[in-house]
Amino acid sequence: MIYCKHRTECSQKELDDFVRLLDGEPIAPLVARIELFAFAYEGAELISTRVLKRPFDIYRRRIFVAAQMESYHSLYPLESGYSYTKPCFRKNRLSSILLRNLLADERYKHAKVYATTLMHNTPVIRVMLANNGKPIGRPFVAENGKDMVMIWKLR
Ligand SMILES: CC(C)(COP(=O)(O)OP(=O)(O)OC[C@H]1O[C@@H](n2cnc3c(N)ncnc32)[C@H](O)[C@@H]1OP(=O)(O)O)[C@@H](O)C(=O)NCCC(=O)NCCS
Repeated sequence: MIYCKHRTECSQKELDDFVRLLDGEPIAPLVARIELFAFAYEGAELISTRVLKRPFDIYRRRIFVAAQMESYHSLYPLESGYSYTKPCFRKNRLSSILLRNLLADERYKHAKVYATTLMHNTPVIRVMLANNGKPIGRPFVAENGKDMVMIWKLR
């Protein structure tokens, strides 16, 4: 079953499943910045997720400055991220379907949305391209100092 829910509508199980699925990311304290969750459940098992979040202004400014697009930072309040599909369920377009559901949600359909990807992450870049994502600005060095980050406008 695939659906979207605002954070305030999520059950404790959905929030716990989400944090567990993204194991490894320091995510629990950041859940409060998430506005809309997209979930794909197979029975009681969460198999794929993606969200719309409202990052801190200071973070958005930093990445848009790094991409040499400072003026865009105030135009793009929402970021789509925390995308993860369990390995055995990948390549079934789940991530793409979840992104489409998030972008179609009535509550957010007038807001501009961006996403960031690492340049080596082909699967997530294919998800961007499949949803009319357009790279904006210049790629910049990731916090790990090794990879490059791209910003995509999703609309
Ligand atoms: C990125 C991720 C969420 C995609 O999930 P998914 O449900 O498999 O996504 P989709 O099936 O909608 O699309 C994946 C696309 O990548 C392609 N793909 C998958 N693995 C690939 C690989 N190793 N090399 C090239 N393309 C690949 C698929 O063919 C598909 O493209 P297509 O629709 O044009 O055929 C999943 O790979 C994942 O959880 N990765 C680990 C977490 C991660 O990197 N998240 C992104 C952080 S920004």
